[in-house]
Amino acid sequence: MELERHIRTIPDFPRPGILFRDITPLLGEPAAFRAALDGLTERAQAAGPGAVVGIESRGFLFGAPIADRLGLPFVPIRKEGKLPAARLTVEYALEYGESRLDIHQDALAPGTAAFIVDDVLATGGTALAAAKLVELLGARVAGMGFLIELEGLGGRERLGAYRVDALIRFR
Ligand code: PRP
Ligand code: MG
Repeated sequence: MELERHIRTIPDFPRPGILFRDITPLLGEPAAFRAALDGLTERAQAAGPGAVVGIESRGFLFGAPIADRLGLPFVPIRKEGKLPAARLTVEYALEYGESRLDIHQDALAPGTAAFIVDDVLATGGTALAAAKLVELLGARVAGMGFLIELEGLGGRERLGAYRVDALIRFR
C-alpha cells in the first residue's frame, strides 16, 4: 500500500509558505488507515515496549489503536492543563513561542519501556518533550514511531539518542 497517496498537501496552511501534510484522507480510507496502523504496530512491537504513549491530539489517533492491537497500556501525553491527577510538565519550543506537555505521575511504572507515537515528526521538539516526560517518570523510551517524517527540519538529528521510525518521508 502506497500510504503517501493518502496524504494531502495544502500550501500556505496554517501560514504562508508552509506546506501542510493533511492526514485526513488517510483516516478516511479504511484500507489506508489499517495499513498505517499495521506498519506502526510492527515498528512498535519490534521495540519491545511495555506501554504505548500517544501525544495529543493527532498522536492519539494512532497510539491508542496500536496499544489495543498489542494488548498494552495506552498512556496519553496531553497539552497543558488537561490531565486531572498529579502530573509532570515539560516545556518545549515552538516555531514561535513555547508550549507545555503533561503526563500523569502514575502513568508509567519506573523501568517501563515506552513506545512514543505521533502523526508527524517535524523539528522533533514535541517528541523530545514527550521523551523527557517518560524519563522523568523513571521509565525509558524503547522507540518512537511516526506516520510522517518531514525531512530537513532536524527532527531525526534532535532525536538522535532514540530509535526513530517513520512510514512516510517528505523532503
Ligand atoms: C503537530 C504534529 C506533531 C508536532 C510535530 O502537532 O501533530 O505532534 O506538531 O512538530 P515538531 O516535530 O516540530 O514538534 P500540533 O502541535 O500542531 O498539534 P495537534 O497534534 O494537536 O494537531
Ligand atoms: Mg501533534
